[in-house]
Amino acid sequence: MINLSALAVLAAFLVQANAVPVYGQCGGIGYTGSTVCDSGSTCVYSNDWYSQCLPGGPTSAPPPSSTYTPPPPTTTTTPTTSVPPPTTTVAPPTGTGLQARIAAKGKLYFGTCADAGTLNNAQNSNIIKAEFGQLTPENSMKWDSTEASRGSFNLGGGNTLVNFAQSNGKIVRGHTLVWHSQLPGWVNNIGDRNTLTTVIQNHATTLVTQWKGKIYGWDVVNEMFNEDGTIRSSVFSRVLGEDFVGIAFRAARAADPSAKLYINDYNLDSNNSKTQGMVRYVNKWKAAGVPIDGVGTQMHLSAGGSSGASAALTALASTGCDVAITELDIASAPGNDYAAVVRACLAQPRCVGITVWGVADKDSWRANTNPLLFDNNYQKKAAYNSVISALA
Ligand SMILES: *[C@@H]1O[C@H](CO)[C@@H](O)[C@H](O)[C@H]1NC(C)=O
Repeated sequence: MINLSALAVLAAFLVQANAVPVYGQCGGIGYTGSTVCDSGSTCVYSNDWYSQCLPGGPTSAPPPSSTYTPPPPTTTTTPTTSVPPPTTTVAPPTGTGLQARIAAKGKLYFGTCADAGTLNNAQNSNIIKAEFGQLTPENSMKWDSTEASRGSFNLGGGNTLVNFAQSNGKIVRGHTLVWHSQLPGWVNNIGDRNTLTTVIQNHATTLVTQWKGKIYGWDVVNEMFNEDGTIRSSVFSRVLGEDFVGIAFRAARAADPSAKLYINDYNLDSNNSKTQGMVRYVNKWKAAGVPIDGVGTQMHLSAGGSSGASAALTALASTGCDVAITELDIASAPGNDYAAVVRACLAQPRCVGITVWGVADKDSWRANTNPLLFDNNYQKKAAYNSVISALA
């Protein structure tokens, strides 16, 4: 006869022997290790992919540096089963602003980037309300802003952007989950596959879950290609090869099945080697089941740089993906270049919309080139009128 109490003692001993040290992983989809934390710490659910041993007893507060309230644990391991209705709304095609004009042409949005600083400027935010139908956070959703230390999330800046967008009927593009730049040192220093995989999954799942149903599309992977169309060396590619792409896209898909998932890059401004590399890899990854819905071309252009835009959009659309112009600005803002980019999007059925990278020149990351549609006094420039003409 089996002595049950002896078995229980043995089991308790084995579990204790395998207890997870503080800040270690103690749960999540695919995790097979111990779910018991060292004494003095407690296993705290972060998301479906990741639970972590945090200091303190079961009633301890979350780490003080985190402004993120984790969602309650779910009992299912298939997070794709509950899909809320999308709450994204599109400004109606009435009025005379950029959004109204592009919507009348059958496109989803004409957008810009913003964050708390520019939203708090009334002149700037009034232009956004009147002219634009979509917002991208310029910095607040990047890795260094959202997870400066592992597992400690600061999503307040993203909340500000998303709340403004929701209150004013603007679509949001999330930007960006996996990027080699504006990346904290602790991620750059990861050297093993399992850790980096878990870290990417946790980061993507936490951000996408935070704004589930409120974000139209995510730039899941940003700027991963060299100019010759090969894969850029980064901590992601050095540790995981190209597998990091599928890891990130699958985690994002699981967290919000209704969000469009994009791969985004710069210098995809003509049918050049980088564009062809993007097309080749996207075709390969889609064939392997990676859930890529869209390709973003940033289009930070110089004067004359619009000449290849149409061919670039055609090449990118050949993947069967949606295409978006995600960060448009043009040095000295020539009207003919702006108009040509707009016409290229209008002519490409898969082009869903255009985002310019800022409202007024003085707030641009390229401020010294005056690349935007509004001047330093928030007045419409000639380029604005060219865009309106192209949308007529
Ligand atoms: C882009 O260039 C490649 C290689 O020359 C060619 O096969 C492809 O048809 C071109 N695509 C477009 C849209 O011009």
